[in-house]
Amino acid sequence: MAHRVQVYILGGSGYGGGELLRLLSQHPNVETIHAVSRKYAGQPFWKVHPNLRSVVNGTFEAEPDWVAFAQAENPVVFSAMPHFELARQLQELEAVWDKHGLKGRLTLIDLSGDFRLDSAEAFERAYGKPHPYPQALGGFVYGLPEWQKEKIKGARRIASPGCFATAIQLALLPLAGLKNLGFIAVSAATGSSGAGATPSETTHHPTRANDFRAYKVLSHQHEAEILRMLETERTAGYSLAFVPHSAPLVRGIFATVQLHPPAALGLTAKTLRKRYEDFYRDAPFVRLVEDTPRVAAVVGSNFCDIALHEKDANIVIMTTLDNLVKGMAGQAIQNMNIAKSLQENSGLLSVGCYPI
Ligand SMILES: NC(=O)c1ccc[n+]([C@@H]2O[C@H](COP(=O)([O-])OP(=O)(O)OC[C@H]3O[C@@H](n4cnc5c(N)ncnc54)[C@H](OP(=O)(O)O)[C@@H]3O)[C@@H](O)[C@H]2O)c1
Repeated sequence: MAHRVQVYILGGSGYGGGELLRLLSQHPNVETIHAVSRKYAGQPFWKVHPNLRSVVNGTFEAEPDWVAFAQAENPVVFSAMPHFELARQLQELEAVWDKHGLKGRLTLIDLSGDFRLDSAEAFERAYGKPHPYPQALGGFVYGLPEWQKEKIKGARRIASPGCFATAIQLALLPLAGLKNLGFIAVSAATGSSGAGATPSETTHHPTRANDFRAYKVLSHQHEAEILRMLETERTAGYSLAFVPHSAPLVRGIFATVQLHPPAALGLTAKTLRKRYEDFYRDAPFVRLVEDTPRVAAVVGSNFCDIALHEKDANIVIMTTLDNLVKGMAGQAIQNMNIAKSLQENSGLLSVGCYPI
């Protein structure tokens, strides 16, 4: 068991980096935290993440000091850089880690989409460009704890899932493996922080704050993660259509999954609830709620709330989570805890603010 871990964050000035700093600073097993930012090198963390002032001390580094980090007893690196960046850098990083005796000891947890899929073909289909380092694909465990916790235990390379992919897989996991589920309609809305800290046309306040629209209809990159889980679980006789929306929120995802399975599957309101209760009995961050889950009830926390409805064989499953916590930094820390044999909920016990 690792009682003390030492952390480096690559991409420390982004939204994911800020959430990692906030949560890891309260983690009882985290001894030291270093964070890298090219733009803010030499500046205190609070310059970029003002909520951390006087609580999380430290300054951004221009680049990691791997020589010093080699002294760490339980080194953990979180990569919170944009898609493609870790994939571009990994070969060189592995060589440096090897040189300093870190390669086999270090736990690397990637928050981007670079290593979530196993094949170069699947990656290019989802992300529209060839993978920069295809040889490394398949070397990462997909870090969705509610699906494959056993594989995460002791893993040295973990790819944390996407935020939409987490919300939708948590809605579908208890049904995975069933045959003839039929058409699965998925609609999910996200807040603007899902697009990261760099401003863009789609995140600009005047054009986003009072609007509600769909984007990447039937072509969002996270669909590949969801389909891979369903296929791995040998689900058959279904088709899935995913329509993402951007909602006038900063944080949060609300996903609605609808299906009309045949009566032979026996999915009534009662059996459905029992199925989800049994499946998530040992999942500390999944809560089954009545009526509707609410974004305001999960923001700031690592919880995913799920509500279930059935009427005339129509099934509705709704999930909410904070895209920056259970959809990103919180889940990455949950993965660290499991990989390093720490308490699964260490550093993740804080509840969110309500109302937000
Ligand atoms: N936002 C979400 O809801 C969410 C959820 C799940 C997963 N993710 C994924 O998690 C990753 C981080 O997301 P984010 O929202 O935190 O992004 P972000 O706010 O845009 O932050 C990106 C960070 O990466 C650094 N960076 C950018 N280009 C770099 C480069 N070429 N080399 C080294 N560092 C570079 C930036 O820092 P400097 O420019 O200061 O160096 C910044 O700290 C992304 O891959 C994203 O897709 C995001």
